[in-house]
Amino acid sequence: MKITFAKGAVIPKGYLHIRFTEDSKGTKRLVRENGVESLELGIGKAKDMNNRKFTILIRSIVQTAKQQKAKRIAVGFDSTPELWKNISFSSIERGAQHFAENVEMANFEFRTFKTKPTEGWKEVEEILLLDEASKEMRAGIARGQIVGQAVNDTRELANLPGGSMTPKGLAKAAKSAVAGLPVTVETLNRAALIKLGMGLLAGVGAGSTEEPTFTVMTYKGGPATEKPIILAGKGITFDSGGLNIKPSSSIYEMHLDMSGGAAVIHSVALAARLKLKRNVIGLIPAAENMLGNGATRPGDILKSLSGKSVEVTDTDAEGRLVLADALTYAKRFKPGVVVDIATLTGAAVVALGHHANGLMTRNDALAEQLLRLSEETGDYLWRLPLWDEYESVVKSEFADLQNHSLSGGRYGGATNGAIFLWQFAKDLGCPWAHIDIAPRMTTVAGEELAKGASGTSVRLLLSFMESWDPRTT
Ligand code: BES
Ligand code: ZN
Ligand code: ZN
Repeated sequence: MKITFAKGAVIPKGYLHIRFTEDSKGTKRLVRENGVESLELGIGKAKDMNNRKFTILIRSIVQTAKQQKAKRIAVGFDSTPELWKNISFSSIERGAQHFAENVEMANFEFRTFKTKPTEGWKEVEEILLLDEASKEMRAGIARGQIVGQAVNDTRELANLPGGSMTPKGLAKAAKSAVAGLPVTVETLNRAALIKLGMGLLAGVGAGSTEEPTFTVMTYKGGPATEKPIILAGKGITFDSGGLNIKPSSSIYEMHLDMSGGAAVIHSVALAARLKLKRNVIGLIPAAENMLGNGATRPGDILKSLSGKSVEVTDTDAEGRLVLADALTYAKRFKPGVVVDIATLTGAAVVALGHHANGLMTRNDALAEQLLRLSEETGDYLWRLPLWDEYESVVKSEFADLQNHSLSGGRYGGATNGAIFLWQFAKDLGCPWAHIDIAPRMTTVAGEELAKGASGTSVRLLLSFMESWDPRTT
């Protein structure tokens, strides 16, 4: 999409002019004046406006244009300051970035497997901004477009069906995401990760003819002495549940179980594209959780990379297994901070619904920072406990750990998953946070985004990489 500027200009022919009124939210009225078509959009009372509603409004501009089959729209905010008095961003640049991110996100649809209609796709090709084109404004818009596209790249990747995006495919996607950027990508195949001792990742991938992979993306934008930020993303390209097979009602969207991996891939790419002065390493443990002949059985005991043995009491609790090996692997980089991101539990969805992801960490400063950034970026988080009291669920009768408690596992499931990860993260020697993105795996009605993967947490991880202070560790 092109975003151009023309303050106070006469609206050129062929553009749909979108204007705002205090009519009740969602009201739309088409008016024709001097040959220019305008669409008046009701935003509700200005006193009830806030940043969150503004985000949705920005997206609805694009969705409305798409419905009207308008390719070019003209829109401005400067001429109606009374409507926006409750909106505040930390800077003009940040506000402009937010605008551009959200129009790009609203313009996206997953069309890869669809035949193009003869009249073309419904999408907006240009937004003419009728506002002051200051330097800050232009910089914010340019940056926001790059970020919005990274979110959309994440959605595109996550949306690919299980048969079209395998663990090897995910490793390839990591490579092509950083083509031309100063990021190195290395991938271990099945034989290599078994040789290294990643028994948990190998065990999850054992039931599939598709080889599991472990991909490491390295971007060195900071001083050589600065400890890296590590992002680890769950890359289950299809989660059938394994021998503890999922019921029909829960299996359908499980090609999206690599949404964390997709977010990490495109966040690392984004760090390089925006030339962040940080060292960042992305880890993507990837496997297909299937039930073929070699599949791990309930009750099997696997040896993790850390050396700890794990009894697999439920093959459907596979995300925590692959991430545990990734967390142990992370240790070799002497990280400054580690954040993992995973569609880990249905229980997180039960707890939070679809509007916020779950945050679990032992580090209050890290929690505060992530919660603040989540509000700013729109990748909302809500903190859940990660206390010692929950640790009993990972104690196994027959191994060092178990991945699920058969007696007490139904309650507090999101924390139970995180407490398993903590058994490995506690050896890292640096702050660690776990983000359960199952709640925001897909978009929901009312947020003015196309159905399917939401691209959650790319904006949050970017803000985190930008603002993390390496002296805090
Ligand atoms: N990938 C699922 C979690 C999930 C569910 C993500 C729904 C998005 C939407 C995960 O691997 C899983 O199956 N978790 C189990 C854990 C249980 C067996 C302890 C769950 O949530 O039921
Ligand atoms: Zn599962
Ligand atoms: Zn899963």
